[in-house]
Amino acid sequence: MEKIVSLCKRRGFIFQSSEIYGGINGFWDYGPLGAELKRNLRDTWWRAMMREREDVVPLDATIIMHPAIWKASGHVDTFSDPMSDCLVTKKRFRSDHVELQSGVVYTWTGAKDDDGKECADSISVLLAQGKPPESARKVGVQFYSQRGLTNPQLLGEATAKVENTRAFNPENGAQLTEPKPFNLMFHTFVGATASENDKAYLRPETAQAIFAQFKNVVDSSRQKVPFGIGQIGKAFRNEVTPRNFTFRSREFEQMELEFFIQPDEVIEAIYGTVSPWSETADLSTPQPNWGWEMWHRYWVSQRVAYYKGIGLGEDVLAFHWQTKEELAHYARACVDILCQFPFGIEELEGIAARGDFDLTQHQKHSGKSLEVFDEEAKKAFAAWSDEQRAALLEKKLSEQRAKGKGGMTDADTAMWWDRLFKGFYVPHVIEPSAGLDRLALAVIALAYSEVEKTDTKGNKETFTVLKFHPRVAPTKVGVFPLLKNKPELVAKTREVYDLLKRHMSCFYDESGAIGRRYARQDEIGTPFCLTIDFETMGEKGDELKDTVTLRHRDDGSQERIKISELLGRLLPLVQ
Ligand code: GAP
Repeated sequence: MEKIVSLCKRRGFIFQSSEIYGGINGFWDYGPLGAELKRNLRDTWWRAMMREREDVVPLDATIIMHPAIWKASGHVDTFSDPMSDCLVTKKRFRSDHVELQSGVVYTWTGAKDDDGKECADSISVLLAQGKPPESARKVGVQFYSQRGLTNPQLLGEATAKVENTRAFNPENGAQLTEPKPFNLMFHTFVGATASENDKAYLRPETAQAIFAQFKNVVDSSRQKVPFGIGQIGKAFRNEVTPRNFTFRSREFEQMELEFFIQPDEVIEAIYGTVSPWSETADLSTPQPNWGWEMWHRYWVSQRVAYYKGIGLGEDVLAFHWQTKEELAHYARACVDILCQFPFGIEELEGIAARGDFDLTQHQKHSGKSLEVFDEEAKKAFAAWSDEQRAALLEKKLSEQRAKGKGGMTDADTAMWWDRLFKGFYVPHVIEPSAGLDRLALAVIALAYSEVEKTDTKGNKETFTVLKFHPRVAPTKVGVFPLLKNKPELVAKTREVYDLLKRHMSCFYDESGAIGRRYARQDEIGTPFCLTIDFETMGEKGDELKDTVTLRHRDDGSQERIKISELLGRLLPLVQ
C-alpha cells in the first residue's frame, strides 16, 4: 500500500488535499493522471449503464437539496455510525471498528494527591499483553492528572479478566466512552441567516435525488417501467475514521443506478406467474415476466460483466450476500461486490433490491403521488374474480403485519390494493451503487506490478509497471520519434500524434533513450507506445514506409503497423 500511495503522488495520480497546509483528513485530490483515470472509469460506467442501453436515462442533480429529502429517506434519524472517545487522549474511534482485545483490566475508584485533593471519577485500563501493571497505572495517573490532581495516587484498584472487547483504546489501553450515534451527514446553512431553519445537508448519496425527481423523469423521458435512472456525482460523509487512502473518504463520488420495476403482483396478474430464479436461469436478456429476484440477479451479472470489461475479472472479486439480520428492514436482498485491495477484501459496490420503500417514503413526506399508471396491469386485474382480489388483500395484509413496525398499516395496505386494481402503483427498485474512488483505487492497486530487469553489464533494476486495462489507462499511447534531433522524424511523429490525439489521450515524448521512454510509460500504465524511425521515412524501401513500431506494454512485444491502420487497430482496444 505504501508503494502505491507513493507512486500515486510521484506520478500525479492522487495527492492529499490541501497538502501545503498539512492536509485535511479524508479528502483527496486527483492529479493529471488520476483525473484522466477517473474520467475513463466514469465513461465506462456511463456507456455500459446508459448509452449502450435503451432503458436507462441519466440525471445530474444538485448536491444540496431540500432537507426534507433526508428526513424522508431516514438519513436524518438513522444515518449514523457508533462513535467512542478515549477517556485519556480524547482520540475518536468508530466503536465497531476498534479491534477486539482480551486481557486484564485495571480499575480505580478514584485518586487523591499530595494536597489532599480527591477525584472520584473512575477509569479502567486494559493492560497490554506482556506489559507490567505499572504501564496500566501510568495511564490511570494520566487520567487523574488531567482532572487537576498533581502526582495522583490511585485508589481502590481492582482487576478483572475481559475477553473480545472493543471497549479500550488499542494504543494505550484506556477505556473508551460508551458508543454514541454520530450522524455522518455534513450540514451547512442556506442563505444569510444561518438559523436552524436554514439547515441543509451535503448529500451522503446520489440516489435520493433520483427518487425525488422520479416523476419529472417519467413525465419527460417517455420511459416506462421497467426502466432506470443513473447518476454519477459527489457524495459526502463525515466518516468517523476515514482510512485506507481513498477507500473511506469524506468526499467521494458515486455511480448509482435506480432501476424501477413492476411489483411482483403486477407481473403475476399480467403473465400468470413470475419467472422463478434458479442457478441456471438465463440472465442475458431481460424478460417481461421477471420479478424482483430475476432483476436483482440480472443486475449483479451485468455489474460483474462491467468489471470484467475493465480488467477486474471474477478472480479478484468476491460476493457477500447480506443475511436476513444484516438487511435493512425494507430490503429484500443485497449483495456486496467485494474486491481484493492491498489491505484485504473490501466492498466495491452494493446491489440492493429495495422494494418500494424509497418512493413510498417520498410520496408520504412530500404529499405528491409517485405512482405510475399501468394500462396492462389495469386490464389484467379487471379480469380477476372477487375471490382472487380478496386473497391478494389477505396475503398482503399478513405479509405486512409480519414485518411489524417496518410494515404498512392495514389502512395503507388496503389503499395500495385499491389503487393496484385501478392500474396505479409505486414501482419497486433495484439499486446497483458503486463508488468511483474505490474503483479507481482497486484498479490502481490491481494494476501495480514490479519487474526486475538486468542490463548488459549485469546490473539489476526493478521497474514498476501499472497493468491498466487499455480502456481505463489514463494515457493510451506514447508517441516517440526515434531521435529528437532529426527534424523529419519529429515532424512525422507530430503528424501521427495529431492523428491519434483527437481520438484518445496520447503522450508525445522525445527525451532520453527509447528504453527509458518505454519505462516511463510503463510506470503510468500506458498500454501502447509508437516509435517513428527511419523505416517510417522510407529509408529501407517502400514496404516499411509509413509504418511505425507498435510496442505492447505487458509483454514488451513489438510489431510494425501502417500509420493508416493505427486508428482501426487501437480504437476498439481503448474504447
Ligand atoms: N445509495 C446506496 C448507498 O449509498 P453505500 O453502500 O452506502 O450505498 C455505495 O455506498 C458505494 O459508495 C459503496 O459500495 C462504496 O463503493 C462507496 N462509498 C460509500 N462510502 C464511501 C466512502 N466513505 N468513501 C469512498 N467510497 C464510499
